[in-house]
Amino acid sequence: MSLRSDADAGGTGTSLYVHVPFCVVKCGYCDFNSYVVEDQSVHDRFLAALDAELGSAWREPSPVSVFVGGGTPSLLDPARLQRLFEVLSRHVDLTGCSEVTMEANPESLTAEKAALARAAGVSRLSLGVQSFHPHHLRRLDRAHSGERAEAAFLAARAAGFDNISLDLMFGLPGETAAEWEADLDRALALRPDHLSCYNLTFEPGTRMHRDLQRGLVAANEQEIDRDMFWATRGRLAAAGYEAYEISNFAGRGGKCRHNDHYWQQGDYVGVGPGASSHRRGVRWTNLKAVDAWADAALAGMPCAASAETLWPAQRAAEALWLGIRRATGIDLAQIAARLDWPVQARFASEIERHERSGWVRRRGARLELTEQGLVFADRIGGDYLGVGVAGTTGRVPARA
Ligand SMILES: C[S@@+](CC[C@H](N)C(=O)[O-])C[C@H]1O[C@@H](n2cnc3c(N)ncnc32)[C@H](O)[C@@H]1O
Ligand code: SF4
Repeated sequence: MSLRSDADAGGTGTSLYVHVPFCVVKCGYCDFNSYVVEDQSVHDRFLAALDAELGSAWREPSPVSVFVGGGTPSLLDPARLQRLFEVLSRHVDLTGCSEVTMEANPESLTAEKAALARAAGVSRLSLGVQSFHPHHLRRLDRAHSGERAEAAFLAARAAGFDNISLDLMFGLPGETAAEWEADLDRALALRPDHLSCYNLTFEPGTRMHRDLQRGLVAANEQEIDRDMFWATRGRLAAAGYEAYEISNFAGRGGKCRHNDHYWQQGDYVGVGPGASSHRRGVRWTNLKAVDAWADAALAGMPCAASAETLWPAQRAAEALWLGIRRATGIDLAQIAARLDWPVQARFASEIERHERSGWVRRRGARLELTEQGLVFADRIGGDYLGVGVAGTTGRVPARA
């Protein structure tokens, strides 16, 4: 695979997401579609099904970006990882693609796998570290140590990766501000090219959410999480990282183009179990279970379990919900023109309310979060989604 490096792709073109649904352990906080599978023949069946699905689902020219995520793609053994990239390059022309990211976990990323991925054209590696503290890693059910995470990072560097992102989480139960800042320092000492720092969410259906409900674990005080949020921005800004989205910080590697494309409502095709796709207002989601998805793909049947045509109100609401988290905010006039829908008028009362609260401000046609609004982003986005739901009653979607 060879890659072209060019300017920010924005929301144009189509991206490709490949979901690898296997993990060494199921982490207590994670509600992603991933499974612990001992029988490695399941990996072979997955790869054969992926080959079949890509053959029918990917009919585009070069994608603007590719993201091989999970789950844990680095869990595949070297021969199977190699096969995954062979399958990918058989169906996807990567000559115009500006970014190919692979997610990796420290416990399974070896020097051999890193070298193999790099040689296969992976240009960006996203390493899931979450924490460097042994007691927090244990509570999260992570299968690695802080030292192992550092070793995996260095192995990726040695393999030639010049764009490595680290995923970290803060607001862990019982975590102190000092612990989080020590995590940031240890991450920064590696000089990563990008950082994603997520505030832990207790997702319904996860082990940690059940523990929370049973009183076995307590969520941090909101104030402590907010202090960590501000500490993150301060420390990363001082280290030269640009906060281009609430949880994402660009260093020398620049933004994650794949996610930025998604946040701008670009079209994308997702392959693999449970993967979602979106094309001009139509969204469909694959069968979730690995077996059911593989059965469909191998039989040459569609893999989608559900599909919906989004109402203009939903598309507009999602554009605001995703876009307001970006540092440059959203261009309301541009969204209105793209969706042919009166965005400014329909969101006027929410936007004015948020302006009065001091949470958002207008800059010409753009709407963006204020410093004060950053910590209310979830609530602000939720308000916009509410307008989208209200706008779906009584009418049939006008355009697909
Ligand atoms: C689903 S994981 C996949 C990557 C890889 N398997 C890993 O564990 O690092 C992607 C990222 O989402 C974040 N994440 C997952 N669940 C989360 C949660 N409940 N709250 C906050 N962040 C979460 C983690 O930082 C994780 O690295
Ligand atoms: S966080 Fe990553 S390793 Fe843990 S279960 Fe989710 S996808 Fe798997």
